[in-house]
Amino acid sequence: MCGIIGYCGGRAARPLLLDGLKRLEYRGYDSAGLAVADGGRLNVVRAVGKVSDLEKKGIERPLPGHCGIAHTRWATHGRPSEANAHPHLDCRERVAVVHNGIIENYLELKQELQAKGHAFRSETDSEVVAHLIEECFAGDLEKAVRLAVLRLEGTFGLAVMHADAPEQVVAARRGSPIILGLGEGEFFAASDANALLPYTQKVISLNDDEMAVLSPGGYHIKNLNDEFLQKEIEIREGRGEEADKKGFEHYMLKEIFEQPEAIENACRGRLLESEGVSKLGGLEPVLERLKNLKRLVIVSCGTSYYAGLCGRYIFESLCELHVEVEVASEFRYRRLKLDADTAVLALSQSGETADTLAAIREAKRKGALILGVVNVVGSAIAQVTDAGVYNHAGPEFGVASTKIYTSQLVVLTLMALLIGRYQGLSFTEGSAVIQALKRLPRQVKGILTDIEHIKDIAQRYARYQDFLFIGRQHNYPTAMEGALKLKEISYIHAEGYPAGEMKHGPISLIDAEFPTVAIVTQDATADKMLSNIQEIKARNGRVLAVASQGDGRITEVCDDVIRVPETLPILQPVLNIVPLQLFAYFIARSKGRDIDKPRNLAKSVTVE
Ligand code: G6P
Repeated sequence: MCGIIGYCGGRAARPLLLDGLKRLEYRGYDSAGLAVADGGRLNVVRAVGKVSDLEKKGIERPLPGHCGIAHTRWATHGRPSEANAHPHLDCRERVAVVHNGIIENYLELKQELQAKGHAFRSETDSEVVAHLIEECFAGDLEKAVRLAVLRLEGTFGLAVMHADAPEQVVAARRGSPIILGLGEGEFFAASDANALLPYTQKVISLNDDEMAVLSPGGYHIKNLNDEFLQKEIEIREGRGEEADKKGFEHYMLKEIFEQPEAIENACRGRLLESEGVSKLGGLEPVLERLKNLKRLVIVSCGTSYYAGLCGRYIFESLCELHVEVEVASEFRYRRLKLDADTAVLALSQSGETADTLAAIREAKRKGALILGVVNVVGSAIAQVTDAGVYNHAGPEFGVASTKIYTSQLVVLTLMALLIGRYQGLSFTEGSAVIQALKRLPRQVKGILTDIEHIKDIAQRYARYQDFLFIGRQHNYPTAMEGALKLKEISYIHAEGYPAGEMKHGPISLIDAEFPTVAIVTQDATADKMLSNIQEIKARNGRVLAVASQGDGRITEVCDDVIRVPETLPILQPVLNIVPLQLFAYFIARSKGRDIDKPRNLAKSVTVE
């Protein structure tokens, strides 16, 4: 969703801000803007559409300013328009504010400020912050921001400038990330480390209710009681070169092809073959509680939710656990009893998803052990959890998640193996899981070599308007995730269903124009799946099957078949989703969709 970048240093700010915004584009946005200090005033440019549209505006003359703030906006309050784009200004256009998050008491504050004569120009909640700072400003920007922030309810990551303090950027956070980048004589503030890494790997993450003041000469950090804080400087790996598409047409395709490596990275140093168990350093502090765990509640959203649904089968198969999976946004409406024998596990690529964060905060309040599987190191969810495991899959830029989904399935298997070996799983069973995990990267590579065949099939199916995806047991979530991939990036209607439910509704839709994708790899449910496919064929429906390499029967009944290798049933979803990712990708490509940044979607959903 929204992205922030701020700069203070010796170089011209505008090109650096635009470059930072481009690195934030993958998060999803609909408008963008920037403010640069410019000879005693603030030069502000905003545009609806892409950062490239913003780049074209205001280039009549080079901006000399060395300090600035910039933003990509994903509309929440008010449609995408120039007036609603950030930076927002106060009445006299002396204060500029960029904001991520939602100000929950904005209406109340707006009425109060309007009564004092403030005139508002946008429909956003964010504009209230600029006017509040104007109201609090008496020559000291840092103090004005602190006083304003103390009045705010909700979530915010903020970067603020004032024309009277042209060499300063003030940043603050509550619930929405702000990361500082420390360069040589130059300092950055951003909502996402990807925007900073080409310039510096030295970063500091602000915690909630902390603020930072940047200037070309240095920086300091304080809490909202105006006390100075000394914070640890982290060194982040990489220089943001992952942001290069490396010759692939889209990030999504690149990330599909990175899956063998992502699986290897998830397993690296974590397989204890001699003991038939996994070793997960991040869970060691809570190992005693895990040994006696009775119940696991998995909370997540989107693709991570489908990984959670697969996780239920994985944990039930390897452990003696009662497992529930809940969409994070619905979690708080349940009246769940969560005790010390229960762990709540948050699955999140970004570690920022607001609903997932809210769910684990709620679970923490009720006394559960909070675990996480997160890809982004140091993210908000990683900070709230008691213990957890990182995916180490590298950044994912395509809005439609691919490599993190399969990485999540692998990490969940490692967690289940660890707990399972304390709960009755034998050495032989544990070893079989390890051997299967080790084979996975090669098996995924094998599927990826079938790309031309999958592309050909996708092109033949691209003309349909609706799709049904069906699977049973471990592959019921695969059906849901396959359908989600297709609708996210191609804008085609697709429904994922447990195959057994088909005759309770969806079968009425089946005709020659409504194809079905059946995930029918060899397992205990394969015969029942074949019966369901026959039911579809009897109604003139076209069927594309994802089937095991050795299955001879399938070509008899299905119109098209994509073959995948066999593995343990709990890991079969890792392999089965790969051709469906490619199927969705090639359909979207043939329709000319904006695959990495599909309309209306955001990579990190930071609002509830
Ligand atoms: C958004 C993204 C999805 C992602 C979901 C959950 O909707 O577009 O790709 O699966 O958020 O994100 P998370 O970062 O928590 O895994």
